[in-house]
Amino acid sequence: VKWKIAIIGFGNVGQGTLEILNNKKDIFHSRYNFDFDVVAIAGHSKGSVLNNDGINIEETLNLVRKMGTIIEHKDHVDFDSIEIIRNSDANIVVECTPTDIKTGEPGISHIRTALKLNKHVVTTNKGPIALYFDELMQLAKNNNVELKFEGTVLSGTPAINFAINGLAGCNITEIEGILNGTTNFILTKMEQGMKYIEALQEAQRLGYAEADPRADVEGWDAAVKAVILAKVIMGLDISIDDVKTTGITNISEDDIQDAMKKNGHIKLIASVKGPEAIIAPRYISNSHPFANIMYDTNAITFHTDHLGSVTIMGPGAGAIGTGQAVIRDILSIINETRKR
Ligand SMILES: NC(=O)c1ccc[n+]([C@@H]2O[C@H](COP(=O)([O-])OP(=O)(O)OC[C@H]3O[C@@H](n4cnc5c(N)ncnc54)[C@H](OP(=O)(O)O)[C@@H]3O)[C@@H](O)[C@H]2O)c1
Repeated sequence: VKWKIAIIGFGNVGQGTLEILNNKKDIFHSRYNFDFDVVAIAGHSKGSVLNNDGINIEETLNLVRKMGTIIEHKDHVDFDSIEIIRNSDANIVVECTPTDIKTGEPGISHIRTALKLNKHVVTTNKGPIALYFDELMQLAKNNNVELKFEGTVLSGTPAINFAINGLAGCNITEIEGILNGTTNFILTKMEQGMKYIEALQEAQRLGYAEADPRADVEGWDAAVKAVILAKVIMGLDISIDDVKTTGITNISEDDIQDAMKKNGHIKLIASVKGPEAIIAPRYISNSHPFANIMYDTNAITFHTDHLGSVTIMGPGAGAIGTGQAVIRDILSIINETRKR
């Protein structure tokens, strides 16, 4: 069978995913017997394309690289993203539009529409999962399709899959993590002598921080990810408002220097234990597994009954890195549907 993929949201992650699909087409065929067409891309201001026989992927990538849009594509359509999901023959919809932690839109409407049409969904969008996880899983089940979201936490570093499958059989009693790359980058740069504002500007210059960096520095991005981990891995009934969230905006250069004098670091740590989730800057000694997590690297420690503490570290962002999460989820859907 040939799988048909639609990509909704054509920014960093949408383009990163398309690039991997283009570069690895032959390997995916030989290694996984996975053959596919990309039948639609919905890109908002970048334009949208739809061709149920498959678009030319290489040409689409060249166009967006050269022009910044796909408006001049031969398969360009004026439909909005919901209509594109409805009109496409896609059996897998990749949802990678911006995260809105208050409403979950536009992602939540995309995901509901796709699942109701019996299309599998892969998303990297944190809003819909943090807000509507239970409803969406039920909807997927009712429609006999899969919903996967590995990329919502630690991008392609397999945190969610690692906990659910890799640690199956363990009780996970606590999850701790450095879940936000921008703040970890800023704290690292402050250890090297930069002032907070200089470090923030450097993070923005390198594309880590948004133009509006409040979600990062005030801790909300980490809080949303903590909610996803709490719900999905620990089965807790928790919402973003329940997370006690403190960011790094009040951390001074003196705090950083004091921690270093005590042979440690200040890190923004997410902790999920029992009914509680907390995001706060914490002193981490040099012997702690998080002491060497620098710059934009992320890490999670799972405290378990059978293994004690298990820590994974890796990238928490990036177009190709997050595209990898999408690819993993697609391959997992293919694997699971074959077993049915
Ligand atoms: N980048 C990462 O490293 C990373 C890692 C993990 C998770 N994520 C999550 O993955 C998602 C995508 O991230 P990103 O970095 O790719 O963001 P991005 O570069 O801002 O791309 C999002 C794209 O979605 C488009 N869009 C907005 N509304 C839309 C709609 N109604 N229909 C179709 N497209 C729409 C935007 O178009 P316009 O620009 O024209 O509005 C934009 O091109 C976000 O939810 C993010 O939180 C990202």
